[in-house]
Amino acid sequence: MQTIGFIGVGALALYTIKGVRSGGYQGPILLSPRNCKNAKHLAKNYDCEVQPDNQSVVANSVHIVIATRPADCLETLACLEFNANQTLISVVAGIGIEQLRSAVPAGLDIVRAMPVSSAEAGASPTLIYPGNAFVSEFFNCCGTSIVTDKEAYFNQGSVLACVYCWFFSLYQELIQATQGPELPAELSVELVMGMAKGAAELALASKDISPAEIASGIATEGTFSKLGLDLLEQQAAFEPWREACKLLQKQLAAND
Ligand SMILES: NC(=O)c1ccc[n+]([C@@H]2O[C@H](COP(=O)([O-])OP(=O)(O)OC[C@H]3O[C@@H](n4cnc5c(N)ncnc54)[C@H](OP(=O)(O)O)[C@@H]3O)[C@@H](O)[C@H]2O)c1
Repeated sequence: MQTIGFIGVGALALYTIKGVRSGGYQGPILLSPRNCKNAKHLAKNYDCEVQPDNQSVVANSVHIVIATRPADCLETLACLEFNANQTLISVVAGIGIEQLRSAVPAGLDIVRAMPVSSAEAGASPTLIYPGNAFVSEFFNCCGTSIVTDKEAYFNQGSVLACVYCWFFSLYQELIQATQGPELPAELSVELVMGMAKGAAELALASKDISPAEIASGIATEGTFSKLGLDLLEQQAAFEPWREACKLLQKQLAAND
């Protein structure tokens, strides 16, 4: 199997590698040495090999994942020597293919991917641009690869990788709002998560109708669901979510 190497062994490398190994990925994985606590942990428990420096990762891998923070990405890449048959996989948010290309040799294959931390639970919907068979196969080991052929779609889709994080805050609000003497915390947690998972699964299975149509089919006149939904809409509860998405969309486009 072809070797994949990670430059930058932070949170993303940790959850992605744990996810793909749990999902059955058996190919060799090389790691850069910086952040040696994470690298050693992955080497010991997830069958990875720590290299002496970044260049050794590149020299011994066919696919190289750049997983530093955005501010470190281009400078890190510019210090490395690649060869023509390699693929650079960037998981770095807000840095487009053209910017990446400016830091690496002409002709290098470049793919962007956006795995989220549910990779660790084998459930990351990972957006990929452009399509690449190895990259899709790799991220299918920790969830579902979703390939797009337009970078604009990738950028807009990256906003949803941040919305993913906001869901946790919403879940926490709902747990706090419903737990108490009438509902123990552990039951509240199980129900909030179960309802969220159930809603997502029904929406995914109902290709012919939109989530809004599912909601209005449940929240019919006289129901408790409608009572609550009407209050949320009267108080413009969804408006800040739209605004937060627009803010990130602008920010990601500005960096691109
Ligand atoms: N975490 C997420 O949920 C998530 C989701 C989607 C995409 N992403 C993207 O993934 C990238 C990594 O995110 P992260 O959360 O994993 O960040 P992180 O936890 O801060 O990890 C980045 C790692 O890169 C290391 N690094 C910096 N410069 C380096 C260099 N020249 N050579 C080798 N390693 C270097 C850092 O070391 P030091 O700490 O010593 O600087 C750090 O260990 C970001 O660009 C982000 O946009 C993250």
